[in-house]
Amino acid sequence: MVEKWSPDSWRRKPIQQVPEYPDPAKLAAIEDQLRNYPPLVFAGEARRLKLALARVAEGKAFLLQGGDCAESFAEFHPNNIRDMFRVLLQMAVVLTFGAACPVVKVGRLAGQFAKPRSAPTETIDGITLPAYRGDMVNGMEFTPEARIPDPERMVRAYNQSAATLNLLRAFAQGGYADLHKVHQWTLGFVAGSQQSERYQDLANRLDETLAFMEACGLTSETTPQIRETDFFTSHEALLLNYEQALTRIDSTTGDWYDCSAHALWVGDRTRALDGAHVEFLRGVGNPVGFKAGPSMTPDDLLRLIDLLNPHNEPGRLTVISRMGADQVAAKLPPLIRAVQREGRVVVWACDPMHGNTVKAGDYKTRSFDRILAEVRGYFAVHRAEGTHAGGLHFEMTGQDVTECIGGAQAITPARLGDRYHTHCDPRLNANQALEIAFLIAEALKDERLRVRRLASLAS
Ligand code: PEP
Ligand code: CO
Repeated sequence: MVEKWSPDSWRRKPIQQVPEYPDPAKLAAIEDQLRNYPPLVFAGEARRLKLALARVAEGKAFLLQGGDCAESFAEFHPNNIRDMFRVLLQMAVVLTFGAACPVVKVGRLAGQFAKPRSAPTETIDGITLPAYRGDMVNGMEFTPEARIPDPERMVRAYNQSAATLNLLRAFAQGGYADLHKVHQWTLGFVAGSQQSERYQDLANRLDETLAFMEACGLTSETTPQIRETDFFTSHEALLLNYEQALTRIDSTTGDWYDCSAHALWVGDRTRALDGAHVEFLRGVGNPVGFKAGPSMTPDDLLRLIDLLNPHNEPGRLTVISRMGADQVAAKLPPLIRAVQREGRVVVWACDPMHGNTVKAGDYKTRSFDRILAEVRGYFAVHRAEGTHAGGLHFEMTGQDVTECIGGAQAITPARLGDRYHTHCDPRLNANQALEIAFLIAEALKDERLRVRRLASLAS
């Protein structure tokens, strides 16, 4: 018998990754304050995303999710938001036009401020302090003061998320995302690169298509799909005090929604079946997801699916596998088979970042080749199982950082220090992200042709 859910029922469950706030009264006062702030998204938008994800689950669309590992207060700047949005748009165009596959665009931003850590403390030169847990919790500087969790940071994260979302909505709906601007989305530092040439080539072909469509009477004025796009937000629902404060009853349906983002997920470290994070997510109506690393068993997977999507609602649940390049071929098939056997509907996404993190000197990094190897492995497994490789989840940025090694720019370990700016994990830069989009477009095109061939054989 499943117990009754309420926005605070998570508080009666065991919890992982929880910050130790020194002043509980202040924490409660801030939670109260946030409870009276406007929701950041509207439940109807979350339902719209769920419908879009149901199309992904059916094999008719692809999910592209990406953004910073951790957003930061210091890097809050309109140009950074714009550049992230541009790269995601570019990647989406490559996939939509290159593979003729609709793309559901979900930013990992406007709320991605809390981080799970592998250790609760950090030691440098013999000094041990509490670990940095994301700007929403404490400060990254290695001082005792900065590392004390401060609830005021939740308000700052809320405000930054609200401003970020406001700009994203303006970009998505206000003309910036018009397909006629496809050439202008190229970022300065990408110009001249091999990726830029490929992109310009694709953009030229798109121009011709748009001219043809215009001749047929389909213009930006007559066709909103050309002029604007849907862009959704997501983050890991880690700091449940914040998530609970933004959880509201939707007046149109009477259901609870976590209005901090359209979609939420739980990480590989906080997905315990009897834990607080799963308890929280099971009661909100948003599309939700969980990460599945190599330790995930088919049994646990099915139990999680039962808890989070008991009515098998399409689009409700995304399983984000993150096995690492070496393990994807062995670990993913048993999970897919269990889900198929039980007739459960999920979106199968892959995060090719978190299973491929390595140390290079003092830097945490990821090699482009390993990331790509996991992406290829993920497509190969789905091809063999006859299931849809539904989406990818990247840690990436629109900035010209040097955090992941390799790619066409051939970033070497020695160059990581040039522009290593991440607050947590290493991100693909814009060039690397675009390069990967072209490779995925090829894989998706293959999948589409294969499905078409099978359909024509069957008819
Ligand atoms: C993350 O997405 O930043 C993360 C910590 O992932 P995981 O839970 O898969 O380790
Ligand atoms: Co990360």
